[in-house]
Amino acid sequence: MQAIQIIGGGAILKAFVAGATGRTGKHIVQVLTEKEIPVVALVRDTVKAKELLPASVELVIGDLASCDRLATAMKDCNVLLSAAGAMPSLDFTEPFRVDYWGTNNLIKAAKIAEIEHFVLVSSLCVSQFFHPLNLFWLVLYWKSQAEKDLCNSGLTHTIIRPGGLLEEDNNEAIATAGADTLFSGRIPRQKVARLAVAALFEPASQNKIVEAIAEPDAQPQDWQALFAKAQRIKDE
Ligand SMILES: NC(=O)c1ccc[n+]([C@@H]2O[C@H](COP(=O)([O-])OP(=O)(O)OC[C@H]3O[C@@H](n4cnc5c(N)ncnc54)[C@H](OP(=O)(O)O)[C@@H]3O)[C@@H](O)[C@H]2O)c1
Repeated sequence: MQAIQIIGGGAILKAFVAGATGRTGKHIVQVLTEKEIPVVALVRDTVKAKELLPASVELVIGDLASCDRLATAMKDCNVLLSAAGAMPSLDFTEPFRVDYWGTNNLIKAAKIAEIEHFVLVSSLCVSQFFHPLNLFWLVLYWKSQAEKDLCNSGLTHTIIRPGGLLEEDNNEAIATAGADTLFSGRIPRQKVARLAVAALFEPASQNKIVEAIAEPDAQPQDWQALFAKAQRIKDE
C-alpha cells in the first residue's frame, strides 16, 4: 500500500518528472519511489525507460519541445520536477528547443494542470553570458531565460543550480547559496536528486534559486538550513 505523502496544503503527492531517463532524472525518480510517491515520467524511449526506471512508474512518451499532451499527462500530478536538458549535438537549436522552449511547455502545462510546486534543475553560471559553456549553442543563456519564465509564472517553484555533475556519489556535504554566488564546484547527481525532492517538503525552498555544490569541508546541514541559505529573489 502507498504511504500517504503530504505537502504544505495537505495534498497527497504525485510527481511528474521530465528528463526521467537522464543521469540525474533517474535518481530523482528513484528518490521519489523510495518515498512511495507515485511518479509519471515523461520519456522519449520506452525501452530505455523500462530498463532504468522502477516498474511502478507510469510512462508518458513524448518530446518536451513538441508534446501537446503535457497538461493532460500531468493532470493527476501536483508536483513537477524537471532534470531535462539538451544533449550535446551539432544542431544549434537544441538548447533553445529543450532548455528554453521545452521548459516553457512544462510551465504552460503546469499552470493548466494546477501543479503546486515546480522544481527545475538548471545550472551554475547561467547568468554569465560569456561562460565557455555557452559555446554549446548558448545553453546557459537559454536556461537563464527559462528560469526567468518560471520565476514569473506564478507557480510555486524551486530552481536548483548544480555545479558540474558527478556520476559517483561521495561523502562530501552539500553547500548551498543564493543566485549568482557560486561560480565553480561539483556535485554528484544523487545529491542533486535528493535536494530536488527535499525541496517539495521544505517551505524554505519555495520561490528560490538555490546554487548547490558538494565540498569536503562543508558542514552537513539539514534540508531546511540548506534552503534557508538562498534568499527569495524578491527579498534580495
Ligand atoms: N553535465 C553537467 O555537469 C551539468 C552541470 C550543471 C547542470 N546540468 C544540467 O542538469 C540537468 C541534468 O543533467 P544530466 O547530465 O543528469 O542530464 P542528462 O543525463 O543529459 O539527461 C537529460 C535528459 O533530458 C532528456 N531530454 C533531452 N531532450 C529532450 C526532449 N526534447 N524531450 C524530452 N526529454 C528530453 C533526455 O532524454 P533521453 O533520456 O530520452 O535522452 C534525458 O533524460 C540538465 O538540465 C543539465 O543541463 C548539467
